[in-house]
Amino acid sequence: MDCGSADKKRGFQSSRLLRSSTDHLQNGNSELTVENGHTALVIGLKDKVGILARTLMIFEEYGINLSLIESRLSKRDKGDYEFLIVCEEKADKLDTVLDKLKEKAKYVQVLSPPSEKKTIPWFPRKIKDTDTLARSIVGYGADFEADYPGFADLAYHARRKEFADIAFNYKYGTPIPRVTYTINEIKTWGTVFGKVTELFPTHACREFNHMFPLLVENCGYREDNIPQLEDVSNFLKDRTGFTLRPSAGLISSRDFLAALAFRVFHCSQYIRHGSNPWYTPEPDICHELIGHVPMFADPNFAQFSQDIGLASLGAPDEYLEKLSTCYWFIVEFGMCIQNGQRKAYGAGLLSSFGELQYCLTDKPELKPFDPAKMAVQKYPVEGFQPVYFIAESFEDAKNKMRQYTSSIPRPFLLRYDPYTQSVEVLEKKTQLKELAQSIRGDLNILIGAVDKVS
Ligand SMILES: [Fe+2]
Repeated sequence: MDCGSADKKRGFQSSRLLRSSTDHLQNGNSELTVENGHTALVIGLKDKVGILARTLMIFEEYGINLSLIESRLSKRDKGDYEFLIVCEEKADKLDTVLDKLKEKAKYVQVLSPPSEKKTIPWFPRKIKDTDTLARSIVGYGADFEADYPGFADLAYHARRKEFADIAFNYKYGTPIPRVTYTINEIKTWGTVFGKVTELFPTHACREFNHMFPLLVENCGYREDNIPQLEDVSNFLKDRTGFTLRPSAGLISSRDFLAALAFRVFHCSQYIRHGSNPWYTPEPDICHELIGHVPMFADPNFAQFSQDIGLASLGAPDEYLEKLSTCYWFIVEFGMCIQNGQRKAYGAGLLSSFGELQYCLTDKPELKPFDPAKMAVQKYPVEGFQPVYFIAESFEDAKNKMRQYTSSIPRPFLLRYDPYTQSVEVLEKKTQLKELAQSIRGDLNILIGAVDKVS
């Protein structure tokens, strides 16, 4: 390629025009310093006479000044040249220019300052990455406090370790090991199951009451049987694509919410200590299977939960905390209005006989569903909740959450691809075109279906 020499004749030879600096970029073997608000690009041009001049005219057309143009041997194509260009504009203002450049260039790379990259927390891109999330346990039963139910029961300690080992060794895509529960464990389950199910017809929302009998029918939800996580996970997968993975204990909010982005729910397999069936300081299998699972089997609620998970990926810490608080008031302690009556849909309510009764009394304070207010609402982690947020419907709540999460400052947009079970960062024009084509395909199906139905 000779564009380097061809364009030198037109006066675009290598020159350094930097004035001052704050950001440092690794530029091949040397370090390039770029002023704040400027952007460094590496452009590999096609082998045509005058191509550099025509490329630089794009910057002129959009009124963007250049402070550095430098030719160098290409890092990608041996024997070719590429150009390092620094323009006096922020990267997020260059979308159109970059699209134009890509039409002329073999490749265009935006060099981002390392300081910017560091501000985006790591997040999983593929469903298999949930194996990594599962390893970041922040606590589990091995570290019981003195007031933990079962603290003095060494057999219970050993039992909890068995469950923790299953979770630690679990790998995505493999069957969840089946557990033979003891007579005492089944008795504890039966006590909780028998009491809370009495309240479901009057206290639980319509969607929950629709799904619960299907779990009884298909997954062995009975007073004398603790369902197996593998069976429940397969049932959920058929309904909404949600799957369970055994959890060794509490994981960080960031990792827990990140898994929801892939419709994966970290699920405890152990059961609370039999000395007090009405209390567990951590989520146990009663809470997970009775409280959470029926709602994850509802398509609307599954989407709602995944939306919260997707919003959490790469979110700054202060927003992550707000999302976790919203999760608390929605997925754990959510209530809604159906046929003019308050109904529970949160797992913390539906798995607790005492709080399920209490939440429908006039004792708690009721607030309208408003994510911005919910995100900063203080709450106790022990005892009944003093405040609940009441949704008009899941659809309304989902729309309000989507509006709220769109305010999270992230320098990228994400899309979940259900075919590859991965999240895609939307940053290229080709991706946007593919997305538009996919939406167009779905729209055609919708129009065809509407015509047929009408
Ligand atoms: Fe929960």
